[in-house]
Amino acid sequence: MNLKEMLKFADEIVFAKTGQHLDDLQEAVLRGTLQRETYKEIAKDFDCSESRVREVGSELWRILSEQLGEEVSKSNFRSSMERFQVSIYSNVAQEESVQINSVNVCGEARHPPNIPNSHPPNQETSHHDLSEMPELGAFYDRTPELETLTTSILQQRCRLIALTGISGIGKTTLAAQLVQQIKDEFEYVVWCSLDASSTLAKFEANSIQFFSQSEKQDSLATNPKTLPLIKYFQKHRCLVVLDDIHNLFSSGELAGKYKPGYEEYRSFFKQIETLSHQSCFLLIGWEQPREVTQVKNQNTSIRTLQLTGLDIAAGREILRDYGVGEIENYSALIHRYQGNPLWLKSVATLIQELGGGVTELLPYDTILLPEDLKDVLEE
Ligand SMILES: Nc1ncnc2c1ncn2[C@@H]1O[C@H](COP(=O)(O)OP(=O)(O)O)[C@@H](O)[C@H]1O
Ligand SMILES: [Mg+2]
Repeated sequence: MNLKEMLKFADEIVFAKTGQHLDDLQEAVLRGTLQRETYKEIAKDFDCSESRVREVGSELWRILSEQLGEEVSKSNFRSSMERFQVSIYSNVAQEESVQINSVNVCGEARHPPNIPNSHPPNQETSHHDLSEMPELGAFYDRTPELETLTTSILQQRCRLIALTGISGIGKTTLAAQLVQQIKDEFEYVVWCSLDASSTLAKFEANSIQFFSQSEKQDSLATNPKTLPLIKYFQKHRCLVVLDDIHNLFSSGELAGKYKPGYEEYRSFFKQIETLSHQSCFLLIGWEQPREVTQVKNQNTSIRTLQLTGLDIAAGREILRDYGVGEIENYSALIHRYQGNPLWLKSVATLIQELGGGVTELLPYDTILLPEDLKDVLEE
């Protein structure tokens, strides 16, 4: 970046924060700093008091620090800007534009320096918080889905993936199996099951605490400075699973509309999609955010996978686990319950209780509806 580009970049950052472009004095302070002038010299050039220049300078360093997520001062302004440029372009070699907070930075004809875009994960420095991930039981089928997700996450480096499907279809189970398979590729792996109390503020606070505590363990510093959350996703390769994201959306509305108090997630997911970072968010639920639905075909950093039922062979394995795999019309039964493993488990329990022969007595199109399934369907 030359001087003019650095000033333009700084102007965009300040504009994103304040809604105003750099004024003449602010620009003079930044220009003088880049030319290694003292505050006194800048004040003399601009014909104003040194204290005024210092005041303007410290306000600028405060805004830049906040927006870039690291301490920026007169002594490191140039190197901070250069470092940011390197981190942006090394991570988005393929893309045309990225955002820093809400600053668009266009690729122009710059060539990214040839540095690797992630640290290879190291077992000793990897941190997993999978306490909210359900334990895996028997797992059948899903080979194509696992392959698709693995490719999207590891090879294509998608930043946001929505895994959707109706209740009981096996989203959580599939994601848990996936996490077991790929978790060693990441420095940080976090599983959060969202509920009605999971505001963005709470998620951010918990995540920052997790990251800063883990960093404390890895570094000698007793109290490393906490960073804005996005900085951790830029600094480390993280896999974040947010399960049950339908809890963020209003029911009785078109899919993907945030409940009051949860709208902040929209800009957060937007940041995850557009900012330069090396992490991946897997969003699981009945619905996906509208932003994801809208951009899925145009943006390569986003994917959606709509999960459908298990095939007949896998469905039969589930019936076998319940001792009813040998019933005569098992494939019609699996078909009728659309290969939904939760429904199959539930109906298998009922058949077992009624005695396996019951299905032969029932007319072809009867659907047994156990009590627990009624509750699920009502939801
Ligand atoms: N591939 C699978 N093989 C075996 N059982 C499965 C599979 N997928 C889901 N299940 C079972 O079906 C039930 C519902 O799955 P779950 O992942 O909780 O669904 P969802 O998250 O879509 O609501 C669970 O009891 C789970 O163990
Ligand atoms: Mg689930």
